[in-house]
Formats: sequence, C-alpha cells, structure tokens
Amino acid sequence: MSRIAYVNGRYVPHREAAVHIEDRGYQFADGVYEVTAVRGGRLVDEERHLKRLDRSLGELKIAQPMSHAALKFVCREVVRRNGVRDGIVYLQVTRGVAPRDHSFPKDAAPSIVVTSRRTKGAPQKSVDEGIGVISLPDQRWARCDIKSISLLPNILGKQQAREAGAYEAWQIDRDGNVTEGTSTNAWIVTGRGELVTRRADSTILNGVTRLAILDIVARQGLTFVERPFSLAEAKEAREAFLTSTTSFVLPVVLIDGEPVGDGRPGELTRKLRAAYAGQIEQ
Ligand SMILES: Cc1ncc(COP(=O)(O)O)c(C=O)c1O
Repeated sequence: MSRIAYVNGRYVPHREAAVHIEDRGYQFADGVYEVTAVRGGRLVDEERHLKRLDRSLGELKIAQPMSHAALKFVCREVVRRNGVRDGIVYLQVTRGVAPRDHSFPKDAAPSIVVTSRRTKGAPQKSVDEGIGVISLPDQRWARCDIKSISLLPNILGKQQAREAGAYEAWQIDRDGNVTEGTSTNAWIVTGRGELVTRRADSTILNGVTRLAILDIVARQGLTFVERPFSLAEAKEAREAFLTSTTSFVLPVVLIDGEPVGDGRPGELTRKLRAAYAGQIEQ
C-alpha cells in the first residue's frame, strides 16, 4: 500500500508531498505539531492532543487551520488511507507561506500536514530489561510547554544519547534538577516510595502520556507529587521511568551508566505500564 499524506487540503502520494520553500515552518521553525498514537486503528487520547494543539497554536498566535471535527476527520482518513492499525499520526501546523520576514505575515493562511505510519513501539527488550539515559544540560528556550517544531536542542541531545549507547537524554536545569527527556517526560520513585514527576510549567512539555499516567495514579489512589527532582535524587531513586506517546512507559535502569535501584525495572513502573497498556488497548 503506497503512503498518502494530507497537505493543505489534498491527499497526495507521500513521495510527492511538499510545502513551499517559503513556508515559515521551513524558514523559521514557526509551527507546532502533535504525535498521536494509533492502536487498533483508533487515535489514543485524541481530545488531549487536540487540546494541546489548540494551546500551542494560541500561545504562538497561529490561526486554527480547521475545526476539531475537520481535523479528526483528516487524521482518521490519513490513518485509513495508509492502512495503519498500530502506529502514529503526525500533524504539523505552521504559520504558512510568506516572503521571508521575521515578523508575522498579515495574510498567510496556516499550512497543515498530516502523515501516518506503522510503528512497532519500544523494543520488548527495553520493556523487559529497561533502558539507559544520560544527563546533559538543558539548552532549550523558556517555553518548553509549547509543542514547537523547533527541536534543535532535543535532536542534539537525542543524538548524544544514541552515541553514548543510551535510549534518551535527561535534560538538567541550572539548579541541577531534571526537566525532562528530549522527547519524553521523566519520573522517579524515591526510596520512601514517593512517585515524583516535575510540575507541568513552562520548563517541560505537558505530555499526554504524563497526564494519562497521572489519571491512573489518582484512580488507583497512589500517592504522587509534582515537584522538581535533582539528578542526584534520580540516581538514588528506587525506580525511574519515562513516558511518551511512542514509548508509553519505559523503565529507566541506568542513569549516566549508574544503576537505578537494583538495576532492574521497578514494580510500580511495571504496574503503571500494564495499566496504561490495558487502557489504550480497550
Ligand atoms: C520534549 C518532550 N517532552 C515530553 C514528551 C512526551 O509527550 P507525549 O506523552 O504527549 O508524547 C514529548 C513528546 O514528543 C516531548 O517532545
């Protein structure tokens, strides 16, 4: 089945899909995106993704490209046309095409691109045995709450992690606290059994998976706290894990090469992954 992309009102063969060279996404990374998981042909947590898309667009004063109903229709259609049952939908909206000038163009219409592809998710070995992260300074801007397509520090960090044989890089702020991974949120379980993740302020992206896990935690009556935690605290933690649309919940068993807890996936991590998997497979 050949791949199909949606570009500004048209479904086109993926290999021919293109935007203009003066699209502000291409020129300035002046745009936002969402990645939504597809399970059994269904979009996981679609409402939360749309809500976050609205917020990102609003913060950057980019016009809504279309109604939620139309967006849902297009996403479903792209999933269907690509024959995706388990995978992702990628949706990007930029400020549109205009002669290159830093200030906002007056009459540009937002550009929208939607693609979808099958993905396998994290390898089973990573789920069973856990993964390693490295730490590095958080070099990003002050509005990490916006899901902007401007991802240079994130890709440099991820590449550094890959070159170090790690799955992810945890970014560290000036106070020595973990903000988040380059494409994932960060969590620990302290020695006292306290589940901790950073509060969703402007220093992190408020992950849709993060919110889904917080819901599960609240429903199960587990105690948790949203507060900053330091790299040192993470290294001393009983358990650590990360969350994202594509990784779900993955145990972190090594930080900078040092084992977390007994160096194996933690019990709470496993329980939360199972609960989340159960929820999205429904
Ligand atoms: C910087 C960053 N943090 C966290 C996440 C996790 O967010 P979500 O659970 O919505 O995928 C992402 C996802 O791409 C991300 O880019």
